Amino acid sequence: MYGLVNQGLEDFVVQRFGGDTWRQVLQRAGVAQEMFISMDSYPDELSFKLVGAASELLGMDADALLEAFGQHWVLYTAQVGYGEMLAMAGSDLKTFLLNLDTLHSHVGMTFPDLRPPSFEVESLPASEQGLLLHYRSERQGMAPMVIGLIEGLGQRFRQPVTVRQIAFRGPQDHDVFRIEYIEVPAHPAA
Ligand code: HEM
Repeated sequence: MYGLVNQGLEDFVVQRFGGDTWRQVLQRAGVAQEMFISMDSYPDELSFKLVGAASELLGMDADALLEAFGQHWVLYTAQVGYGEMLAMAGSDLKTFLLNLDTLHSHVGMTFPDLRPPSFEVESLPASEQGLLLHYRSERQGMAPMVIGLIEGLGQRFRQPVTVRQIAFRGPQDHDVFRIEYIEVPAHPAA
């Protein structure tokens, strides 16, 4: 994956646990480089090793770590130059989710070797609050990050969300999440 993802992980660990912890993560993962270039592509294996090492070192379940990283990613990308891209994708959860593939295709203009995930929104009948989000990726094991990403988006839009994975790739063709959320609060009358 592009270095931007490893940098995001570094930022997450440094903010939460400090720079010394990050140095230990690099050491434990057996990663020689001390910094990543956002626009360089690195083997996926490297990112997975970093997550594995961080999870062992912090005594935190790898899925929980990926989820927390997903929440952080929404804040991180906004801070490192992608705020406008995020803003363009929508100002409420459902609109944003509908635009996720477009967002990644814009990202792909800057990162030509991007292998982005793909998302599809399935509306539910009005009687059932929420929606289903179908997630397809050529990578394995990132579903917990998707949960965190959706929670992060809920925070961004101040729309409290609950996310539950209801179908799993392997037994099923791909991962599916059921997302329940509060509709955008109506603007108070002027
Ligand atoms: C402007 C903000 C964003 C940028 C710049 C961005 C960029 C990226 C990049 C560079 C990758 C690595 C892919 C590769 O190197 O081949 C990636 C992966 C990913 N992105 Fe985004 N992204 C953004 C927002 C989001 C949001 C809001 C979601 C919410 C669902 C999301 C979901 C994912 C997932 C799940 C992956 C993991 C790769 C996979 O599943 O195969 N991204 N993104």
